Amino acid sequence: MNTKINNLSIFTSGSENNRSIIFVHGFPFDHFMWDAQIKELSEELFCVTYDIRGLGESPAGDGQFTIESFVDDIETIINELKLKMPVLCGLSMGGYISLRAIERMEKKFSAVILCDTKALVDDNEGKKKRADGIKAINENGVEKFVSQFVPICFSENFMSKNEAEYKKVMNRSKSSSPVGVKGCLLAMAGRTDTTSYLSNISIPSLIICGEEDKLTPPEVMRKMADKINGSNFVVVKGAGHMAPVEKASFVNEKIAGFLQRVNR
Ligand code: MLT
Repeated sequence: MNTKINNLSIFTSGSENNRSIIFVHGFPFDHFMWDAQIKELSEELFCVTYDIRGLGESPAGDGQFTIESFVDDIETIINELKLKMPVLCGLSMGGYISLRAIERMEKKFSAVILCDTKALVDDNEGKKKRADGIKAINENGVEKFVSQFVPICFSENFMSKNEAEYKKVMNRSKSSSPVGVKGCLLAMAGRTDTTSYLSNISIPSLIICGEEDKLTPPEVMRKMADKINGSNFVVVKGAGHMAPVEKASFVNEKIAGFLQRVNR
């Protein structure tokens, strides 16, 4: 089902009587990146995904976003859909949002799944790259920015062996709103560091990382996982930053197994 909540495009699948899970996509993608998870997991779970403000079908408005406002959006979705203790699953930027959501309101969630993400903030180099990205979009357009950014997110193997699927993802990203993409870059540059909260997380957690992730590599994610009590850490062989897209069946198996083990 497709619905609108506070101008956000929301997509739900599965029975509302089942345990719910909210999927938060990465940048500069949209809800579509979770398609393989929704297809397989919606038999057992009430799957909720949405387009982060400014990306996919959710309008950018004035583009003045913060990670805090993205967390507000998650809270609104939980309230409006009356979700009871959903699982929160975020990838990369979706993971930054998920980590901050857990820090702000952990009691609302029953478990967290963090894919290819980190608790750390951008260092100065990273902040300058965000600024360069905004400049590049202003000067050359969003399509060019996206066509240079997206390949960093996938393993070489996936791009060469799954040309059609890769092209589809790329084309969706290319059609993103420039205001939305720039707004997300600023929001990520201005995010807070959630590292100090990691040792306080008391809900079950699954940490998933593509073996070839260039943006949030396994050594960075392992350090994060080590700080979370009882976390489950999984490396996805042969996958890059977009592990749930690149190795969907393996990732789905890990998510389903984890949720069975931590069933409420
Ligand atoms: C993402 O996949 O969401 C982005 O790579 C995150 C980032 O640029 O920090």
